[in-house]
Amino acid sequence: MALSGKRILLIISGGIAAYKSLDLIRRLRERGASVRPVMTKGAQEFVTPLAVGALAADHVFVDLFSRQDEQDIGHIRLARDCDLVLIAPATADLMAKMANGLADDLASTLLLATDKPVLAAPAMNPRMWAHPATRRNAATLRADGVHFVGPMAGEMAEGGEAGLGRMAEPLEIVAATEAVFEGGRHKPLAGRKAIVTSGPTHEPIDPVRYIANRSSGRQGHAIAAALAKLGADVTLVSGPVTIPDPIGVNVVHVERAEEMRDAVLAALPADIAVMVAAVADWRVASAADQKLKKHPGESIPTLALTENPDILKTVGHHTMRPKLVIGFAAETQDVESNAKAKLERKGADMIVANDVSPATGIMGGSRNSVKLIRHDGVEQWPDLAKEEVAERLAALIAEKLRLI
Ligand code: C5P
Repeated sequence: MALSGKRILLIISGGIAAYKSLDLIRRLRERGASVRPVMTKGAQEFVTPLAVGALAADHVFVDLFSRQDEQDIGHIRLARDCDLVLIAPATADLMAKMANGLADDLASTLLLATDKPVLAAPAMNPRMWAHPATRRNAATLRADGVHFVGPMAGEMAEGGEAGLGRMAEPLEIVAATEAVFEGGRHKPLAGRKAIVTSGPTHEPIDPVRYIANRSSGRQGHAIAAALAKLGADVTLVSGPVTIPDPIGVNVVHVERAEEMRDAVLAALPADIAVMVAAVADWRVASAADQKLKKHPGESIPTLALTENPDILKTVGHHTMRPKLVIGFAAETQDVESNAKAKLERKGADMIVANDVSPATGIMGGSRNSVKLIRHDGVEQWPDLAKEEVAERLAALIAEKLRLI
């Protein structure tokens, strides 16, 4: 029994779904778990600490500044003397606090202080759940490793409105709690297939010379790794790079754009395509079979170029188009307007745009500052390590696929 002997710190925040938390306490205890309840001020407007304490057979913690509680256990110990922190219901407000590291009451302080897995069961009005601010907070929390169960679709307790926002039922929350104990990290992309391209391409001039660019493959490789970490079956089609293959990913090594296109098409069908590679736009029209020789007195050769296939555009308009097609846009000027045009032209759902002017040090560097350009708006992310950009993007992808 996954829950037998487990100590669960249950944070109840202020939503009408708090009434279901009473039943949740019973269900968890029936399975051998102990439940230590914490209630926010808002939660106490919906259910009483008396009822919660009676069902949990434990003291109910409500106040960060309670001298008695601090003397008995202390909030840091409270945050850590458990095997899992369960938040049910998790309101939009509490999620916003968590995503931003606020600690202005007992619940938010415990969530910042804990080193245990955290499972959240959101409950809110569908418009609040759909709001870009809540979308961002949920993506941040997922990237931080917070597990989620729900919200579910259906009628709200307050009546009238339907949509995503209803708290998962107590038994669904119990099952998700067991899954956290059994499976370690939550794998929201399990069963999903992803194709990622990464790195530069090398376009041969002759057997020893080629046209290349400064892409290191770091961002694309980090994205492949982050998708795999969330359970996706990832094929990474990599151009020539000097960094190692990510763990848990099928890697296909290629050199030229045409090889990259062939490898990507061979990996279809897929649910997700993230085309990060800096594919050369042009190749030498007819690469020489033998090394070009310098002969004294002869004229300097000119290179005639021809266009390479656009892999992103091909995938974006393919009959087997993945549900989510994401491109990158490395620009040195007019980043946003160029990326917007690219979104349409390439048939992508999202373009991750970055300024690769030499002064930014982004191309080949370890950090990235990106803008997400979607059909419904633009979102600027702060300056982050490429791994963090990858984790956030993977979390966002998981979230989008859940809703498609
Ligand atoms: O048009 P541009 O090269 O700026 O577009 C960048 C995006 O298109 C990236 O996602 C890149 O991986 C993809 N691309 C491609 N094939 C090309 C050129 C770009 O897949 N030939």
